[in-house]
Amino acid sequence: MYIVNLASELAPVAKVGGLADVLLGLSRELSWKGHDVDIIIPKYDCMNSAEIRDLQIFHPDLMSFFEGGWYPNTIWMGWVENLKVYFIEPHHPRYFFNRGCCYGCEDDIDRFLYFTRTALEFMFKRGFRPDIIHLHDWQTAVGAPLYKDMYVPLGLNSAKIVFTIHNIEYQGKCTKDNLDSIGMHGINYLVPNKLQDNQNDQSINLLKGGIVYSDFVTTVSPSYAREVQTPVQGKGLEKTLIQYSSKFTGILNGVDYSYWNPEVDRYLPTQYSPREKPLDKKDHKTLDAKGFVKKYLREKLNMPEEHRPIIGCVCRLVPQKGIELIKHAIKYSAENNAQFVLLGLCPIPSIAKEFHELKNSYADDQNINITLHLQEDLSHIIFGGADMIIVPSLFEPCGLTQLIALKYGTIPLVRKTGGLGDTIYDIDNDVPAAHMGNGYVFEDPTNKALESALSRAFDCWFHHLEKWRKMMIDGMAVDFSWNVPSNKYLEIYNNLLQKL
Ligand code: ADP
Ligand code: GLC
Repeated sequence: MYIVNLASELAPVAKVGGLADVLLGLSRELSWKGHDVDIIIPKYDCMNSAEIRDLQIFHPDLMSFFEGGWYPNTIWMGWVENLKVYFIEPHHPRYFFNRGCCYGCEDDIDRFLYFTRTALEFMFKRGFRPDIIHLHDWQTAVGAPLYKDMYVPLGLNSAKIVFTIHNIEYQGKCTKDNLDSIGMHGINYLVPNKLQDNQNDQSINLLKGGIVYSDFVTTVSPSYAREVQTPVQGKGLEKTLIQYSSKFTGILNGVDYSYWNPEVDRYLPTQYSPREKPLDKKDHKTLDAKGFVKKYLREKLNMPEEHRPIIGCVCRLVPQKGIELIKHAIKYSAENNAQFVLLGLCPIPSIAKEFHELKNSYADDQNINITLHLQEDLSHIIFGGADMIIVPSLFEPCGLTQLIALKYGTIPLVRKTGGLGDTIYDIDNDVPAAHMGNGYVFEDPTNKALESALSRAFDCWFHHLEKWRKMMIDGMAVDFSWNVPSNKYLEIYNNLLQKL
């Protein structure tokens, strides 16, 4: 099967969050299973180009339409982790991807509309005949109506369209004029059964376009698929998702174990695996190695070597992630003999200011360490060296850090929402059949509920070491790889192709 992914992120070359991990992990697994997988992403000036092999010009002057004119683009081709990736570099005078960032520009809508139109134009001009075009999030959602209404009539018609919603919070709301700029007749789409926003009848909603026009729509966990069909979590699109529920499902993300794996992790000072399980009480190889990573983490961050658990948190610091709960967990840890390591990027200036102030307020407390930027190597050392990872999100479509943590023998403490509730079960509570307790879970988004989970976790770490160790080793052995999820995507792709 020939699958082309259109996306705005790809690990490790252009990563902001989990979308990048998913693009790499799913594509790599499908390619291992014998399928042809191509990925098309923008050529950002801030890309981590060191991770691209044999980058070369594939098409020097592909013309693409924007605001009434045609503009040249250089299409590059290179290999990322053995996957073929095309990079689009526009030579439009606004230089859409030479902004030093992936997102956060005032004209993000124009940037990604331009990208998606150019990607389809490229496939059309170069005679690509994919079986599946897989679109991701609002940035490439317009690919669905563009394909059906503009490119199928032109002859690019071999593919079925699959659209994955990684986060319904970001919908790409814009005006009909924005659609005009890429050659669509915006006014034709400003109607309820097309791209008109459900809450503002003058607005176009690109994510809605992805849902309406795609042949199949997925999101990234079964619980989130249910949640987004309710008014609280659907963010205005619940009606549309209910209407199209027969072509909508939730598939839990996997983790790429060739990258996120303490057995092979290039950033850890030592490797370890659950197979080195203690043979008897004197032999604790896995735990010794993990203990060494903890020591290394402390040294790196200048934290004292004391008998305390380290609580880690690795996330984008945005309201979704439970900002107030994260702050409270830091305070509670400081007051209860724990150490806390926060690695967070704050894209929102007001939140950035709050966390810089918080960092200053703990300047004299070496048990609390706050790093406020993206740092890949440190994230791996935290997953390996911390005892626990907290993910107190207000909502979470899937969440990858709790799954990565499990693989590293680091106990997740999560709020029960979306994919967090589908993957982590409380060790002290009744667990549904076929699952096992693998962490700590709280439900209410309150300090009190968070504290009750944290206090149970601390108690276990300080006083019930064998229970803690068993939970670690058992969690490391559970399979959250892409093997099962990629088969579910393949089943969807195959079903669609049989309908041709
Ligand atoms: P989201 O996509 O909502 O940000 P996920 O849990 O799905 O959340 O994925 C987050 C990914 O980004 C993980 O791979 C995590 O390790 C990584 N990450 C988040 N914040 C940082 C940071 N400050 N530095 C390095 N990696 C980070
Ligand atoms: C989004 C979600 C996150 C999910 C990721 C990858 O960024 O916020 O929960 O894991 O996409 O699908």
